[in-house]
Amino acid sequence: MYLTDDEKYILDGKRGEAERMALSILVELGRLHGAQRLIPVSQVHIDATLYMVDAGIEFAEFMAGGNAKTAVPTSLNPSGVDLTHWQAYRVPPDLLEKNRRLERAYMRMGAAPTWTCAPYQQGLVPRFGEHIAWGESNAIAFANSVLGARTNRIADLMDICAAVAGKTPEFGLHLSEHRRARVRIDCRDFSPDMTEDSALYPLLGYTFGKMAGDRVAALTGLPPDVSVDALKSFSAAAASSGAVGLFHLPGITPEARNLEMCFHGKPPEQVFDITADTLRNAAHGLWTLPTDAVDWIVTGCPHYSFAQCRHLARLMSDKKIHSSVVFWVFTSRMVYALLEQNGILAELNRAGIDVFTDGCPLQYPKTRWHFTAAVSDSAKFTHYCRSQTGLPAGLLSIGECVETAVSGRIQRKDRSWR
Ligand code: F3S
Repeated sequence: MYLTDDEKYILDGKRGEAERMALSILVELGRLHGAQRLIPVSQVHIDATLYMVDAGIEFAEFMAGGNAKTAVPTSLNPSGVDLTHWQAYRVPPDLLEKNRRLERAYMRMGAAPTWTCAPYQQGLVPRFGEHIAWGESNAIAFANSVLGARTNRIADLMDICAAVAGKTPEFGLHLSEHRRARVRIDCRDFSPDMTEDSALYPLLGYTFGKMAGDRVAALTGLPPDVSVDALKSFSAAAASSGAVGLFHLPGITPEARNLEMCFHGKPPEQVFDITADTLRNAAHGLWTLPTDAVDWIVTGCPHYSFAQCRHLARLMSDKKIHSSVVFWVFTSRMVYALLEQNGILAELNRAGIDVFTDGCPLQYPKTRWHFTAAVSDSAKFTHYCRSQTGLPAGLLSIGECVETAVSGRIQRKDRSWR
């Protein structure tokens, strides 16, 4: 791999062991993937932010202790807990301290305390063609496919190295030839009623991800005015059921204004259809609830935007959630501050809904809450709920989540495609 004089200087340890290690890991990663060089990135999103094992903390502390600083603006994915409202979230002291150690290390390195998995709704938004190094699967898919930025699916800890170096090896989705769609997936028979229904997009993304796997695929048949939040839930779902880092939506994806541009003028290697039946089967596969009893309603996976919180408040209106259920919304600190200032937070709280920041619902303090069954408007949450929390789960629309919360029993509206 070609190395600049400055990179050789760092690899010789002249700027300290932390910087040397960060760069040497990136160089090895690049060699593994046949990269010719390292390229600068304009920003990094670190996914290695929630406490899993001590090794994760030790690596971040080693970097921070070696005076490594983030070389470019660096945002942070959710912590393992709500660092701000930890009492209401019932965080055990030992778990809080583990996450605080990570917080201290990242703050010392100069990262921004965003603690959100929707960094693209937080101001650090890359533009079309910009090279970035992002962790967090939903954010990667969104950045590549909706914003047209370029990032690989950066692994945990590699993201810290990229932040310290301000560089990433040039391979994979940084190169135009690897961004060409190979597979076409059609949903051209969808009616306007379907595509205008926000409940479609998590399930569609989940179905799309299963078909695409790790291949770049183009999806045809969606209108060009799909909302940002619908694209967010699509991206999150597709990147959960498949190893999706980039998808093309002709007319939406900046580098794919039409079908020909998706495929760089070549024919697709495979073509699939998504029909109402395909969606129905996917919905069935995601549903693991044994009865219509539920006690945990979860939204904000990925973290809810201001628009989504506002919509939820409108849906609740003067309603109150049933005493047998807990309703949680996860969002960023930035959105929380807006909700606090304009009264929406108070409205949600009056309805019985708790709004948390920083955290991820899959990592909730399990020894302090005793849920038995969950529903969510997120296909990503529903997909991972069983394996990560042990609880059965079901996917509903946000309207159905509200009705379920009010009645205390599952409420599902008939849809032709579900
Ligand atoms: Fe975010 Fe956790 Fe969902 S990190 S995307 S809330 S699984």
